[in-house]
Amino acid sequence: MAHVLVIGASKGIGLETVKAALAAGHRVRAFARSAADLALSDAGLERFTGNALDAGDVAAALDGVDVVVQALGVPATKLLGPVTLFSEATNLLVPAMERAGVQRIIAVTGFGTGDSREAIGLLQRVPFRLVFGRAYDDKDAQEMRIRRSTLDWTFVRPGVLTPGAATGRYKILAEPRSWRNGLIARADVAHFIAGEIDRPTYVKRAVVLVG
Ligand SMILES: NC(=O)c1ccc[n+]([C@@H]2O[C@H](COP(=O)([O-])OP(=O)(O)OC[C@H]3O[C@@H](n4cnc5c(N)ncnc54)[C@H](OP(=O)(O)O)[C@@H]3O)[C@@H](O)[C@H]2O)c1
Repeated sequence: MAHVLVIGASKGIGLETVKAALAAGHRVRAFARSAADLALSDAGLERFTGNALDAGDVAAALDGVDVVVQALGVPATKLLGPVTLFSEATNLLVPAMERAGVQRIIAVTGFGTGDSREAIGLLQRVPFRLVFGRAYDDKDAQEMRIRRSTLDWTFVRPGVLTPGAATGRYKILAEPRSWRNGLIARADVAHFIAGEIDRPTYVKRAVVLVG
């Protein structure tokens, strides 16, 4: 069983990953600014109140950890302004992991990041850039920083996220020619991440996840 640090653990994919990793028997350190409000009860859970942009918080959170899941997000209301959270947090996290000797990172970015940008359908390209362009430029920088590291990374690039329970019926698209957009439940993304904690199958690879 692993000791897992989930960064961005209070909501969304991060919270679902905390639940899935605990259910799989891992110890989980749940990191977020609002971690104290996490309404979960499990002997394997440690709430860690911290800011991903604070080097001291990040270094302290890495103590004793085997695997990092980076699941940060910005509120939809902030998407039209400058977005720097993903790159800034990653610029702190990667050297901190290298110093701490924590080798494995599973980073949630999104379909359309990096070399999957070319797979966005023609009709979706303009609206996608208008709404998500700033965030995805910053996610590009996030992925590039991790690629330049010595870490064992996996990029998880989900399609459009939906609420609801895990179905276990989703597609892991690992070949660039198969990349496409689609819907996927956050809980299914967490299911994939929990599997990668146990059995690292996609090290130094990016996968697109769709239902
Ligand atoms: N919406 C979609 O359809 C879609 C599609 C593909 C990919 N994605 C990506 O998937 C990722 C997860 O999205 P989501 O909707 O599941 O999550 P989310 O609801 O956006 O949750 C974001 C998490 O990040 C944490 N966070 C934000 N800033 C932080 C900071 N400075 N320090 C520590 N924690 C911080 C938040 O906790 P606190 O606020 O408590 O700190 C929260 O736990 C995002 O990167 C998103 O862009 C989304």
